[in-house]
Amino acid sequence: MKLALLNGPSLNLLGTREPARYGTTTLAEVEGRCAAVAAELGASLTCLQSNHEGALIDAIHALRGTCDGALINAGAYSHTSLALRDAFAAVAVPYVEVHLTNVYAREPERRRSLLAPGALAVVVGFGAQGYELALRGLVGRLRDGTGRP
Ligand code: DQA
Repeated sequence: MKLALLNGPSLNLLGTREPARYGTTTLAEVEGRCAAVAAELGASLTCLQSNHEGALIDAIHALRGTCDGALINAGAYSHTSLALRDAFAAVAVPYVEVHLTNVYAREPERRRSLLAPGALAVVVGFGAQGYELALRGLVGRLRDGTGRP
């Protein structure tokens, strides 16, 4: 099983970015932990981070035919980008939306996600651990057949 982990704007700064809110775990640590969990589950994981919406769209398009499912923390684009949801729909790759923080307990503009309506599941508020929870959940849904497009 082939999986992808995509991270959007400013998530490259995890570890030093507003640590009281987002924690001190770095993106490299998140990616390393997810790669280890994927291996434990018999899957492979490709990781990509970009601060550019178009680059994320290109990365989603590249998942067609090469990837069984994806995790995405699109950062602030989650709240603004119909284009990212459309890109996933275009390639029919199931995805789980992840947020470190509970976006529903934050400012009103963060309480709406344009990705959520197309997502298989959403994991919010568990900090860096949420990526691992989402990964285990995604693999489970793909394996039991309820996550297939
Ligand atoms: C975030 C929440 C977003 O609202 C914010 O723009 C981020 C991080 C999170 O992981 O909690 O960049 O996606």
